[in-house]
Amino acid sequence: MSAKPKVLITQKVPETVQNYLNEHCDCTYWDKEGTMPRAELLEKITDVEGVFLSGGAVDTDLLDRAPNLRVVSSSSVGYNHFDLEAMKARGVLGTHTPYVLDGTVADLVLALMLSAGRRIAELDAFVKAGKWQKGAVKGTELFGMDIHHATVGIIGMGRIGEAIAKRAVHGFDMNLLYYSRSRKQDVEDKYGARYCSLNELLVESDYVVIITPLTPETEHMIGKEQFSLMKPTAFFINASRGATVDEQALIEALNNGTIRGAGLDVFDVEPTPIDNPLLKMPNVVTLPHIGSATDKTRYDMAMLAAKNLVGALTGGEAYVVQEL
Ligand code: DGY
Repeated sequence: MSAKPKVLITQKVPETVQNYLNEHCDCTYWDKEGTMPRAELLEKITDVEGVFLSGGAVDTDLLDRAPNLRVVSSSSVGYNHFDLEAMKARGVLGTHTPYVLDGTVADLVLALMLSAGRRIAELDAFVKAGKWQKGAVKGTELFGMDIHHATVGIIGMGRIGEAIAKRAVHGFDMNLLYYSRSRKQDVEDKYGARYCSLNELLVESDYVVIITPLTPETEHMIGKEQFSLMKPTAFFINASRGATVDEQALIEALNNGTIRGAGLDVFDVEPTPIDNPLLKMPNVVTLPHIGSATDKTRYDMAMLAAKNLVGALTGGEAYVVQEL
């Protein structure tokens, strides 16, 4: 019997996932809270064939310390932390976890739209601060914006984009515009979606949602010029990656009243520094990049990442992000 491949698991995983991994691999685990610190990862990666992680740069620095490395399995759908060219040059396969998180991330996008539009976080703070006095909810200053029958523009119509479309149209009777690399006839047929240019989408939408992967093409695709096209009553929702947006331009657009508010699950730098002006804005709802963070979905992602790791190491099935 050939020896099991040596792998490094850089975050806590559920017991059943551990059992599965132990069956197929010789595993070294990080069993503390959070993820293995970078310094320790660089030290421990030197003799492994596979690594399980969910973020942190997979760059030349890391790859050059791991001459035996064959597979990097990320428990995430996004893989912008992979240096694909460097991985390919060294014959290292990258895998990710599509499908299992679509509905969960889409749920969160709707929650961000509702929270921003109906000012949920702001008004929760208002009540808890004892500011709810008689007559206070009669004036217009606490009013929000409807979601139902409003127009949502989705930038990026992949699997998660489609799950958002379904909720927006079937749940909230929204009008749907989308901008994507390619037209999706089935989405148009199912949800009455209209494909349009990015500029048209920005001009016409009440809620602009960006859910595109971060690639060199999508980096900073939304900046000052794009915000200037949006309605002053519109909300901007980002559950993709912070760098798809010029964060400074977003701050200016919110400060100047170019747009009304935002709902953000992602930031340029994560964790975002406490002095980020976005954190001081009552019309901005902020979350700590938790799009996929429910018990079930994180379990499914961990199990899929484990199966990808084993599959890619043993010539079985895996969601590989690029062929070598
Ligand atoms: C992913 O999996 O890429 C998501 O950002 C997780 O929230």
